[in-house]
Amino acid sequence: MKRLDKLLSDAGVAGRRELKQLIRQGRVQVDGRTVTVPEEKFDEKTAVVTVDGGTISTVGTYYYMMDKPAGVVTATEDRTEPTVLDLLPAAVRRQGVFPVGRLDKDTTGLLLLTNDGDFAHQVISPKSCIEKCYVAKVDGIPDDGDVQAFREGIELKDGTVCLPAVLEIDGTDTCRVIVREGKYHQVKRMLASRGKTVMTLRRVSVGGLLLDENLSPGCIRPLSQEERQLTLVKMPL
Ligand code: URA
Repeated sequence: MKRLDKLLSDAGVAGRRELKQLIRQGRVQVDGRTVTVPEEKFDEKTAVVTVDGGTISTVGTYYYMMDKPAGVVTATEDRTEPTVLDLLPAAVRRQGVFPVGRLDKDTTGLLLLTNDGDFAHQVISPKSCIEKCYVAKVDGIPDDGDVQAFREGIELKDGTVCLPAVLEIDGTDTCRVIVREGKYHQVKRMLASRGKTVMTLRRVSVGGLLLDENLSPGCIRPLSQEERQLTLVKMPL
């Protein structure tokens, strides 16, 4: 049994003081009942807890989205560079979360963090057919030939053949790229194979989960149960 404020703070929802306020404001429900007393105790293994209507995981697996800023590496530790874990509040770091997949140091946008290895594997594995969508600004104007080449499966300069992907163009230097695998520097190398250098790259969705554009760069927020399921929505290209 755990106090409601402790249970929510262990789940990484917010700091204890903020949580007390949130509970007193009537924004937290347990098993369908609004609970306004932070000290009330519940069994974290069975309680279904929602905050503002979104279900919170209380049983030791944690899921977050971050708007990854440029300038940090997607790693759990690095000798010289700041990592995405350095941006996390201490309580969340203690949950043992790690980044799901990898964004380059200069890539921004949707990065998932969890301590659930199965979930991470499902998101990353090309077999899962989970689409990742990027917005790329390139030095040039992608054209219909590029769209067709992406559809057929781009061959990278080292001979690696990529799975068929989607390139959406609008006659400007900015395009959307949808892939379902995560090879090293994949999007940059796919566009480079068509003679386009990527200037900026931002991931905007994973599966059916969109980056919350209200999130400030470097900040995280927990995923609701519904968002977790959305992330795993498979959409074969
Ligand atoms: N493709 C890239 O080239 N870089 C990323 O960070 C992600 C996908």
